[in-house]
Amino acid sequence: MRLRKEPGIQVKSPEQIARMYAAGQVVARTLSVLEEAVRPGISTAELDAIAEREIRGAGAVPSFLDYFGYPASICTSVNEQVVHGIPHADQVLRPGDVISIDCGAILDGWHGDSALSVGVGEIDPADQAMLEACEASMWAGIAQAVDGHRLGDISHAVEKSVRAAGNYGLIREYTGHGIGTEMHMDPVVRNYGPPGQGPRLRTGMALAIEPMITRGERHVAELDDGWTVITTDGSRAAHFEHTVAITPEGPWVLTAREAEKTEQTAHPERLRLTRQRSALSVADGGHDAG
Ligand code: MF3
Ligand code: CO
Repeated sequence: MRLRKEPGIQVKSPEQIARMYAAGQVVARTLSVLEEAVRPGISTAELDAIAEREIRGAGAVPSFLDYFGYPASICTSVNEQVVHGIPHADQVLRPGDVISIDCGAILDGWHGDSALSVGVGEIDPADQAMLEACEASMWAGIAQAVDGHRLGDISHAVEKSVRAAGNYGLIREYTGHGIGTEMHMDPVVRNYGPPGQGPRLRTGMALAIEPMITRGERHVAELDDGWTVITTDGSRAAHFEHTVAITPEGPWVLTAREAEKTEQTAHPERLRLTRQRSALSVADGGHDAG
């Protein structure tokens, strides 16, 4: 029997998790504004400008900007782009597109990281189904972020959910990650694999859970810009991400948007992971995002 703690995974105090919630809520509010702004005719550079204004307006810093030389505050990945797409003034959204928007912020030294995918105007029902399958798999993974579980339980739940939803490509080259005083920390959070394996999950750990799926094959390639990841078969892709803390009361989705905290009719199980936890943090005297 091993009595020592799992090495390498940062463990935060309740006060520190409350600070991470404040950082996560800057990301949540920014993504809500961006989701509203998505429409035919807007460029991804305009979305980036909105994001930077929102993040800095909240007293936070965009964590992506200058990260290994990354040139923007968000990643915007359109259609066959999977992740890490760079916003461009000449990339104008058209009806029927699908876009993943990935956003990160640092507040008070703590990181939040979250992504969503949405359709532009009316979209193909098969694209809509892909978005829903990807989002559902993220929530399936989040539900496993429980003290005493294993990291592999999250990975397995994501994979199982994707497989059950249909014949989607599940990307393996890019993963979720630990998060806290850095954006990318140990452990690597894979979106596939067997349950019951890997490090034991403990209260105070925080993870970014972020499945990426395609309507075709799982294979991806990086463009010459050194960032943009595309599907090699040209199929469309989706990406969702939340930053989640493990607490004694269960998973706490630190980057939950207001809409997700009130979606009780459609998804009662998600409410348990979002609104109740955030209410508790305020009751505990945790820091509020203001
Ligand atoms: N948010 C991405 C992730 O989840 C990282 C974006 S890469 C960056 O891993 F360079 F844009 F920051
Ligand atoms: Co991430």
